[in-house]
Amino acid sequence: MLVVYISLTGQTRRFVHKLGMPLLEITPENAFQTISEPFIVIAPTYDIEATEILNDFIETGHNRYYFKGVCGSGNRNFNTLFCFTAKDLSHDYEVPLLHCFEFQGSENDVSTVKEKVAQLGQSEISQ
Ligand SMILES: Cc1cc2nc3c(=O)[nH]c(=O)nc-3n(C[C@H](O)[C@H](O)[C@H](O)COP(=O)(O)O)c2cc1C
Repeated sequence: MLVVYISLTGQTRRFVHKLGMPLLEITPENAFQTISEPFIVIAPTYDIEATEILNDFIETGHNRYYFKGVCGSGNRNFNTLFCFTAKDLSHDYEVPLLHCFEFQGSENDVSTVKEKVAQLGQSEISQ
């Protein structure tokens, strides 16, 4: 499973490098590329102006078809706005919200995301 992410201050980038999975960092320069393999998105939480390149990527070509789930990195001090970017992506593209964590995540967060991705793989096979 490919892990697609953005990172403005490096927290999400640190997290994804702990997963041991193939990575694709989305930047304004590469947001409109097409891919043809299943991916999850790991999204830090910011106003839409900062995160909409993820929407651009998901909506490019047939990328949306390969979008299987989303995780969020955020800060619980934002209370009800904790990880709203990932929650919005889950809602808007009808994919499961796999996990939300703070900043660069803990070892537990890394394990949880790996488990959720493995479960996603299993549900794909059984369909
Ligand atoms: C300007 C700003 C706004 C933020 N807004 C939210 C928010 O609404 N909800 C939330 O959960 N985290 C919010 N955060 C926290 C970041 O999403 C969090 O620190 C994340 O780990 C940053 O990931 P990055 O370093 O990969 O960009 C905000 C951070 C900044 C700097």
